[in-house]
Parts: sequence; structure tokens; C-alpha cells
Amino acid sequence: MDSNIKSVGVLTSGGDAPGMNAAIRAVTRAGIFNGMKVYGIYRGYRGLISDEIIEFKTNSVSNIIQQGGTMLKTARSSEFLTEEGRRLAYENMRKHDIEALVVIGGDGSLTGAGIFANEYNIPIVGLPGTIDNDLSGTDTTIGYDTALNTIMQSMDKIRDTATSHERLFFIEVMGRNCGYLALNSAVASGAEAAIIPEISIEKDQLGELIEQGFRKSKNSSMVLVTESEVTGGAIKLAERVKTEYPQYDVRVSILGHLQRGGSPTAQDRILASRMGIAAIQALMENQRNVVMGIRENEIVYVPFKRAIKKDREISEEMLNVLRISSI
Ligand code: F6P
Repeated sequence: MDSNIKSVGVLTSGGDAPGMNAAIRAVTRAGIFNGMKVYGIYRGYRGLISDEIIEFKTNSVSNIIQQGGTMLKTARSSEFLTEEGRRLAYENMRKHDIEALVVIGGDGSLTGAGIFANEYNIPIVGLPGTIDNDLSGTDTTIGYDTALNTIMQSMDKIRDTATSHERLFFIEVMGRNCGYLALNSAVASGAEAAIIPEISIEKDQLGELIEQGFRKSKNSSMVLVTESEVTGGAIKLAERVKTEYPQYDVRVSILGHLQRGGSPTAQDRILASRMGIAAIQALMENQRNVVMGIRENEIVYVPFKRAIKKDREISEEMLNVLRISSI
């Protein structure tokens, strides 16, 4: 059944991710193409509550596809977690006659979207925007590929100094308890190992690495570490090596927020454009409470509850690729 949605609001929420601008552009243009009014909502849910809402025309999103970050700004809103906050948000939607929302963000933002949609019976569609690639039901998320490339380029530089000084480096990357960024960038940069939460929870990964002597035949070692209480983080691991295995000359590099910036890769721009257009299509098909996903290069609709389930398994194949290619 076709829906009659005449106006849609778009917002970005949570941590920014490269490709969010491409997604905003696609949602705006697809909405206008299909005869809708499109509203840009600034600063995520916070801006929905404080009425930072502006009607967008096609040229409001010109010249942004190549830019990192989000032109709509983003925020983590504690007020939206309260019933009163969501009531104010709903009132502002009514004030502007906004009938539906497209929310671009990660698991926290989509969880909020699900609660809001159910509470006020609003059609909301999500786009997975996060460098962490930690959502279920989709092969990848907007921003992940760019972050992966940024980490790989940083690793190539660290390798130069690691080799010159014959050092062991622990490089900490983001991911918030999800090892995808660490594992895949380890493979892409020829690192010796990746210490990730999914495996560390079962065994002492560092202990095993030390037992194997890292790579005795090589004069430098680089180990990727996911930020997480489970792995302990790069600083703690390095301290442990210094105490227990003083023969290693250890250094730490925490890549931090540089992983979130930069111009999006072609892959992220294309993914964001496809998903943005699919989101408007989904609203026109009367879909609600779904996130756009990509499986086998096809766009799929993933229910909010499924997307945020945190049951994503780490790829055994990729673990094997790293294990074998780093002997
Ligand atoms: O979810 C994206 C992410 O970059 C995580 O990898 C990281 O743990 C978190 O956001 C950092 O958030 P903030 O920028 O608010 O410190």
C-alpha cells in the first residue's frame, strides 16, 4: 500500500561518520523528487527538542557529498531519553507538520528512534551511520570503509618507525566493544595480530601472542587493539608486556577521533546515496521501524530490534586470514 507522506525530517545523531553528508543529500533529494517537503533537523534529537528545524531545498545539500562529518551537526541527547523530552520533540514535529523521520546514526540513536516511533506512532526509518560496523542485519555501515582506510594509512606510517626502531607497537582503534575495525585493518595493514573483545572474552590473547614470541623472524610488530574493557585497551596491554616481558621495546599509539574524520571513500558515498534513496522509498511503502541494510549488495530492510541486537559474530574467515597471513 502506498503511503501519503507529505513531509519528512532528517537528522544525524550520536558519533559522526564519514558519509553522513552523502546520506543527508540523498534523503533530501529523494524526498523532494517524490513531492515531499524535507526538513533538516540540526543537532540530532537535541535539535528536535529545541526546534532547530529548517526546510531544505535541493541546493541546501549541494557540495557536501565529499565532506566528512555532518552538516546537520550531531549530539548525544540525554533529554530525549526522558518522556518529557520526547513529548517536546513530538510537539515540534507537529508544529512543522513533519509526518515522518529519517534518523542517521548508530545503535543508541536507532534505539531512541524505536522508542519514539512506538510512543507516538510515527513512521521512522533509520540509516546505519557509524564507523563501528556493529549493527546486525547489514554487512556494513556508513563510515566504516572510510575509517578502515584511515586506520590503514596511519598503520603504514607507524610501520616505518616501528621497523626502524625494531619496536613492538600496540595501536588502539575505536569500535566500542566491536572488533571489526581492528580485525579488518590488521589484515589490510599487514599487522601481526588483533586483540578484539569477541576473542579476549574467551582467552588471554596477549598471553598467547607472547607465547608465540610475536614474529621472531621480523624486526617489528604491530598489534591492533579494540578500545574496550574486555581487551583492557592498548595502554594496559603495553604496561603488562613491559612488566612481564621486558625484552620488548614497546610503544603505544591511540588513533582516537582522527578515525572519524576525513572525506568519505567512494564506497561510503555510494552506500549512503543508495541507502538515503531507499529510506524515502521505504517510507512511501509504509515501512516503519526499519533500518536500511546491505546484504550481498542488495538493500534490505532490517527491523530496529534486529539491528541493535548486538549478536553480530566476528568472521571466522577473517580471523583465519589474519592468523595465516601473519606467520
Ligand atoms: O560509535 C562511534 C564511536 O566513535 C565509538 O567507536 C567510540 O567509542 C565513541 O563513538 C566515542 O564517542 P565520543 O566521540 O562521544 O567520545
